[in-house]
Amino acid sequence: MNVKDLYIDYFVKKGHVHIPSAPLVPENDPSVLFNTAGMQPLIPYFMGEEHPCGPRLCDYQKCVRLTDLEEVGDLTHHTFFEMLGNWSLGDYFKEESITYSFEFLTDVLKIPVNRLAVTIFCGNENIPKDTESAEIWQNLGIPKERIAYLGIEDNFWAAGETGPCGPDTEIFYWRSNDSLPEKFDPEDDRWVEIWNNVFMEFNRHSDGTVSKLPKKNVDTGMGYERIVSVIEGVNDNYESSVWRDIIKNLEEISKLPYKGNEKSMRIIVDHIRTSVFIAADNAGIKPSNTDQGYILRRLIRRAIRHAKKLSIEINSNWEEQIALKIIEQYEKYYSELKNNKETILSVLKDEKIKFNKTLEKGLKEFEKIITKNSQIDDLTAFHLYDTYGFPIELTIELAAEQNIKVDEEGFYKRMKEHQEKSRTASAGKFKGGLAGNGEMETKYHTATHLLNAALKEVLGSDTHQKGSNITDERMRFDFNCDHKLTEEEKEQIENLVNQWIQEEIPVTKESMTKEEALKRNAEAMFIEKYPDILTVYFIGNVSKEICGGPHVQNTKELGIFRIKKEEASSAGIRRIKAVLEPTE
Ligand code: SER
Repeated sequence: MNVKDLYIDYFVKKGHVHIPSAPLVPENDPSVLFNTAGMQPLIPYFMGEEHPCGPRLCDYQKCVRLTDLEEVGDLTHHTFFEMLGNWSLGDYFKEESITYSFEFLTDVLKIPVNRLAVTIFCGNENIPKDTESAEIWQNLGIPKERIAYLGIEDNFWAAGETGPCGPDTEIFYWRSNDSLPEKFDPEDDRWVEIWNNVFMEFNRHSDGTVSKLPKKNVDTGMGYERIVSVIEGVNDNYESSVWRDIIKNLEEISKLPYKGNEKSMRIIVDHIRTSVFIAADNAGIKPSNTDQGYILRRLIRRAIRHAKKLSIEINSNWEEQIALKIIEQYEKYYSELKNNKETILSVLKDEKIKFNKTLEKGLKEFEKIITKNSQIDDLTAFHLYDTYGFPIELTIELAAEQNIKVDEEGFYKRMKEHQEKSRTASAGKFKGGLAGNGEMETKYHTATHLLNAALKEVLGSDTHQKGSNITDERMRFDFNCDHKLTEEEKEQIENLVNQWIQEEIPVTKESMTKEEALKRNAEAMFIEKYPDILTVYFIGNVSKEICGGPHVQNTKELGIFRIKKEEASSAGIRRIKAVLEPTE
């Protein structure tokens, strides 16, 4: 049986509800472009919201991490990965959590105890040493010599600068044929981390102080690829069963062996897999020059460049063959791959055609440039971008191969000057972060429900939310509409929202089945991604929406709603930018 199935089976038997993987592109969370950890979609529940499926949950979550993008090509880095996770929302704590992990690894996966070691938080001035976890591990049979105590950098986990966090205990596995050392040295990289159990009982505030969360929670995460390669005894993740057929397929396409061509082959399959999952997401991401669309573009273009390095005929359907292999392998777990197959294939193909038109010329131009210059200045980098569609990262990568520097900063300056809509995907955004659960974000979250309702009233009941993005300073809301809003329409919408705020309507919620929610006409963006039991938020008779929260308790808390801008977002989709101003 697949490790994913074994994992879910085990935790369901231990009373956990298997929840579906949340979409890759988070809703209402402007701090990240993609989900970067299994716990990310659950942040509101760590903060105290009740989860409709109860306090014990497990899943495998689709994640994309971009911090290591340049590392892809080595043995272990991926942009897309799956995280196996189990959670206790104020239910069990250290004892059960550690026992479950131990039992799953040793009984279900049959990993010998003597190949395991653990790290534990050594404590600091605010939080004591985690002796409780150490005792639990020892009682289970992990000897003292295999327990290491580390500090805040290693054994404390937080999803972002602020929000839920806590000390963790990490489980390591001896992945080497060298003889097993008695003592565990976490610095020795033959010990690889396989699982992280975080005891989330704290909330970090923006001033750096920490307070206790309403309940003690557990958040665990185990990288799927890592555990599979451990069980199968391979050092190269790409040699495990996760990749074997896909790499074989690429060997056939390129008529080249994996050995000797590892780097390009890893980049191609990794990037195509991530692109397949991004394109499959119901958020409808298409290659573009901003945010998630820009990442998708970069990934596809980088894969194409490496395909070219392997002398693959770019105009053949190579990318389709690899994508189909990936879809075939994953569709059992992620139905969106099957449902959106045509979209995925056309996203890849269209972008390929677009890039391939200029790639050859661009590469020639690049060669010319580097014969004449010892570095690539801002203008040249911008020219490669603008005329030949070279993402700056591609220019940098090509230049690095020739030991040439690129004026990256100058490029971004030029980009800003030349583009009205600059690329908003700033570096910080790639690093992972935290869902906005601050006071203002919560207010904006409730305001999006009111705006959604007002749009229906003014523009017609078939107006729906197509996306949203919230910071603590403003909200952005996309919806379907075939025309630019008139001044009158905008005024009506704004007045309606403010009227509802003044009416001081209480915000309430109810858990119900998906069928019940649909029967009661609750607004839903993508019904297929919701679990069978879900939460519906009601704002009097004004709005009912399927949503994870959090929300304010009463509309009177919102202040004054102002539309700042109304513009086109994409074909048939309009975008409103709005703010909430204080009443006084
Ligand atoms: N959130 C923790 C991690 O990402 C455990 O799941 O490592």
